[in-house]
Amino acid sequence: MKIIRIYCLVLIALFGAGRLFAQESSAAIGAAVFNSADELLLPLGYRQWVFIGAPLTPNQLNGGSAAFPEYHHVYVNPDAYAVYRATGTFPDGTVVAKELLLLQKGDHADGSKNAASGRGFFAGDYNGLDVMVKDSSRFAETNGWGFFNFGHHQPPYLPAATPQAEKDCAGCHRAVEKTDMLFKQFYPLLR
Ligand code: HEC
Repeated sequence: MKIIRIYCLVLIALFGAGRLFAQESSAAIGAAVFNSADELLLPLGYRQWVFIGAPLTPNQLNGGSAAFPEYHHVYVNPDAYAVYRATGTFPDGTVVAKELLLLQKGDHADGSKNAASGRGFFAGDYNGLDVMVKDSSRFAETNGWGFFNFGHHQPPYLPAATPQAEKDCAGCHRAVEKTDMLFKQFYPLLR
């Protein structure tokens, strides 16, 4: 009986490890995963992808209420980034994740905080996730990119998200149609 139980435990452990490995490797190749309802599953492991930059649009510089008052940490899946370095173009399958991070509570009216390094802004808690996926056929209408929002709040984020309407995301990103719908000018690694 005991041996059977141990055998079962080993099997469960192996299955778990295999599943984790499958998820990690799919994150490593950045393949966006869609379910049968055409929803994008929450990408896994994106905080370990290539970190391309962190725009910041704080409330205090935006009349007290910015649309996104947090840091915007932006990541690209590594294999897509490698193709971009080699060719200058992001391939189908590229996933760009923009995670929002609240600012740490400030010491001054402008929201800034004192630190040993000086007065400035410092990242606090995670607070939302927007994702772009490149797929020229699936998202032909929005210039080859699908736009997804996994919630504008602290984790846990939504497990799956539906493509956003043109007016909610792509419409604004069309301002940078010439640079493949990405605001490349804000990311030194993409310039
Ligand atoms: C009002 C214009 C506007 C709208 C609407 C908008 N974005 Fe953006 N987005 C930007 C700008 C500007 C940046 C880059 C600078 C920044 O993050 O502040 C950006 C950055 C991004 C990035 C990082 C890559 C890049 O191009 O810089 C992602 C991913 C993203 N947005 C997804 C979305 C999603 C998903 C939606 C809809 C839920 C959305 N955006 C709606 C203007 C917009």
